[in-house]
Amino acid sequence: MAKLERASFGSRLGVVLATAGSAVGLGNIWRFPYMTGQNGGAVFIMIYIFCVLLLGIPCMISEFIIGRYGQANTARSFRKLSGGSMWSLIGYMGVLTGFLISGYYAVVSGWCLEYIWASLLGKLQGDTEYISNYFVTFSQDPVKPLFWTFLILFATYMIIENGVRDGIERASKLMMPTLFILLLVIVGASCMLPNADKGIEFLFKPDMSKLTGDVFLAALGQSFYSLSIAMGCICTYASYFSRQTNLTKSAVQIGVIDFLVALLAGLIIFPAAFSVGVKPDSGPSLIFITLPNVFQQAFGGIPSLGYGVSVLFYILLSMAALTSLMSLHEVSTAFLQEEMGTTRKRAALMVTVGCIVMGGVCSLSLGAWNGLRMFGMTVFDMFDFVTGQLFLPMVGFLTCIFIGWFAPHKIVRDEFTNQGTLRNVTMFHFYLFLVKYVCPLCILFIFLHQLGLL
Ligand code: PHE
Repeated sequence: MAKLERASFGSRLGVVLATAGSAVGLGNIWRFPYMTGQNGGAVFIMIYIFCVLLLGIPCMISEFIIGRYGQANTARSFRKLSGGSMWSLIGYMGVLTGFLISGYYAVVSGWCLEYIWASLLGKLQGDTEYISNYFVTFSQDPVKPLFWTFLILFATYMIIENGVRDGIERASKLMMPTLFILLLVIVGASCMLPNADKGIEFLFKPDMSKLTGDVFLAALGQSFYSLSIAMGCICTYASYFSRQTNLTKSAVQIGVIDFLVALLAGLIIFPAAFSVGVKPDSGPSLIFITLPNVFQQAFGGIPSLGYGVSVLFYILLSMAALTSLMSLHEVSTAFLQEEMGTTRKRAALMVTVGCIVMGGVCSLSLGAWNGLRMFGMTVFDMFDFVTGQLFLPMVGFLTCIFIGWFAPHKIVRDEFTNQGTLRNVTMFHFYLFLVKYVCPLCILFIFLHQLGLL
């Protein structure tokens, strides 16, 4: 019985690639390697896998359940499942978080575009100081980063405006396989460097002495961020899933793809870094300052190879960022379209304009508007803090409590088991146990720790 025509993904492959496209992003290629570098290498990876399996995937399934049941934007889906009670507010918070993060995510995505351009023109060649200055001068420039932010948002708009199937699904089906191929090519180049085995060892050989409580917290935070949890993205995409989609299987597939991409990114960065004796723990500047240097030195013997690897790497990074930005954009677009009863085009345009304004302020706060501070933080850092460290754990925690304790049990079970057709009831009980107890406790712990209360 078809009620209102609602957009949907056209195939199972589309479901997995689009959602994996949301998950695979700067978090995998930029954040995961430096988090691994700072948290002891292989030990971090082990804990990370544990967090993805026991916490990330159950939270993802919960968002799948809400979105697919609701068949609507995140806010409305929560409203439907909660019968309009106070729990609906989590949905609104999710939409707000998704919207807020898209501004600053667009800025960093714009940097990736600049780096494609700069490496194409051979501008990323010079000594360490030159490359470091290049990044600082560029990111503080009042015009250049704004231009690239605008450009990537425009590309996002063009895709989103085309709709779920012709826009998001088609773009993901094109970009995700390309991304994977590029990854493999660059991994191959990186692992053939002299001393690459030291980098590989760092990634795979755990040193248990590095295991501390902080490693757990870092891994948990990273797994949520990397899987796009608590931002409305997963819930919104799930509203485009069909009734036949196996939610558990899809979540596991997406988790595996997301992890593999992160690991492959590590297999690019660490072998290259170790081969030229650079420490892989330099933090957020790893991709934009350390890496151009590393590529240049590592492939110094064959300059054209260094050039090629560098260009391909930033293309890869930009594509990963774009598919995530699409999902963030879609959260607010679907929300405005359905809640204001407007057209998709108009909703997408409004979101794009909003992102341009937010992105502009974020970007300028690194340079010209650096004096503009809230609680001692620049607007850029503020966005990062509020979304990543406050809203993300809060929405994640409340979603688990809602699904585990308050949402109608029968609906949750029916969604998990596809109305009983999947025969995965035992797995359902295990899932419910994780969502009721394990996930909320872990998230609460990390939240309090981040705020310095624990
Ligand atoms: N998961 C994305 C990444 O790894 C980031 C992201 C978070 C995207 C939340 C959308 C929503 O980069």
